[in-house]
Amino acid sequence: DIYGERKNSAGLNMNIHSQADDFLAAVQQYRDKQWQAGPIVNGETVDTEHSVSITSPQNLQQQVGRIYWGDKKLSEKALTAANKAYKRWRDTSADERATALEKWADLLEANFNELIALCSLEAGKGLQDGIDEVREAVDFCRYYATQARELMGGPIKLPGPTGETNELMVEGRGTFICISPWNFPLAIFTGQVAAALVTGNCVIAKPAEQTGLIAYRAVQLALEAGIPGDVLHYMPGSGAEVGSYLTSQEEIGGVCFTGSTYTAQAINRALAARTGAIVPLIAETGGQNCMMVDSTALPEQVVTDVVGSAFKSAGQRCSALRVLYVQDDIADRVIDLLKGAMAELKVGDPMLHETDVGPVIDGVAKSNLEQHISDIQQAGRLIARAPMPDETQQGTYVAPTAIEIDSISQLVKENFGPILHVIRYKTSELDKVVDSINGTGFGLTFGIHSRNETFSYDIASRIDVGNVYINRNQIGAVVGVQPFGGRGMSGTGPKAGGPHYLHRFITEKTRTDNI
Ligand code: NAD
Ligand code: ALA
Repeated sequence: DIYGERKNSAGLNMNIHSQADDFLAAVQQYRDKQWQAGPIVNGETVDTEHSVSITSPQNLQQQVGRIYWGDKKLSEKALTAANKAYKRWRDTSADERATALEKWADLLEANFNELIALCSLEAGKGLQDGIDEVREAVDFCRYYATQARELMGGPIKLPGPTGETNELMVEGRGTFICISPWNFPLAIFTGQVAAALVTGNCVIAKPAEQTGLIAYRAVQLALEAGIPGDVLHYMPGSGAEVGSYLTSQEEIGGVCFTGSTYTAQAINRALAARTGAIVPLIAETGGQNCMMVDSTALPEQVVTDVVGSAFKSAGQRCSALRVLYVQDDIADRVIDLLKGAMAELKVGDPMLHETDVGPVIDGVAKSNLEQHISDIQQAGRLIARAPMPDETQQGTYVAPTAIEIDSISQLVKENFGPILHVIRYKTSELDKVVDSINGTGFGLTFGIHSRNETFSYDIASRIDVGNVYINRNQIGAVVGVQPFGGRGMSGTGPKAGGPHYLHRFITEKTRTDNI
């Protein structure tokens, strides 16, 4: 058994009609529900004066709920309470903390339909994305529970050649500030919090501004699962106010951040400017992810995997493919097939089973992406744009777009949406291609399509990234199977969902005794 005793969650097989039909009907019941959320401090939801309305990316006229934001004062209160609770939580057994995480996973599964509906309504995610999101959150909880029992189950005995007893012990670091993005509003939010909690840290969790409702539900379920209210606090609010306040405080144990490279760098500076303990920053950030296709690849398989990697989740995955390098001999064939595949994509309401590509997160993202498409088209050549939904659909839709360009240096930043850039290369230019991909400074995912094993392994070893995928799509890392995370400007590691992730949340003590 490759997983040992732990199993990843089963999710739901949408190809089994009886299961899918019940699920589709159940999810639709949430279409008009209104959610409300606010900061949770010491287990209580607090009324605050500042609230924002959450509208749905799939229909900007539709309000999904209202979220009350925290501020500096409330953040300070939560931090004081968390720091007070820390020693007690640290000294509970790893097994007790792991059991609470497993209960949390059970409750997430029990609320499957609501959480998926909320992923769609608040974050514009498709139903399959929603299923994957809940599964990943559940898998993070169970995986980290298993890891923590192993890592923190008791001291490691070390040799004592002179008759002394030597032991290595691990424990939490204090209060972790967990700051998450909107694009995996449940999975990444839950994964960060679960890892910090199970290693004996208290947590203040700050979700992205756009997706505070689903994060609130996750915290409610964590508290219901037995995580004490003074150990886990929830602080929605703006990054500029709440995020930067929390990450500049002296009395914190570490920061676990996922989001843009730009924000990670700002947090790094804020941490450096503090006085007090030097604390870890775990940062998982953006990418300029490429795929390389050589002339031995199967064009049909290439196009299936390119379309999935670039356009699934409306291209709003940090892992998504942004730049496709195609060897000249095969390029025309691949581009022709790509045009055909893109013409078939159905863009629209993410809560419908037949939709392939939902909306992007908000109007700002849409206009930035449209601006990029317009700018880059002038420097390159449009290959295709998928059909847009009809005008009655009022969401923030961006038609998947493929554009041929000459060089990756024409891309000045990560374009976080359904835009694919295509570059032709000649075999004689291979070294230059490798250098220019590494030269971006990002290092998250990379795809290779080739039937030449020597080529594939050679390129895989030369490209400086965290996750390489050969002859498949390059998204959808699975917990415990493809530990996920980047390097360079894409992240600090260690990888989420991997065996070393929990190490950054702990500190070690060596005890030598002659008792
Ligand atoms: P973002 O950086 O704008 O925001 C992320 C979080 O940081 C939000 O909660 C925000 O409120 C907070 N924040 C903003 N300014 C802050 C500050 N000064 N101090 C503290 N917190 C602050 O990112 P986003 O737009 O929400 O997410 C998209 C980005 O996330 C993309 O770049 C994507 O590649 C990246 N991402 C990376 C991974 C990964 O695992 N590598 C996974 C998902 C998303
Ligand atoms: N873990 C996510 C993926 O692999 C980001 O797509």
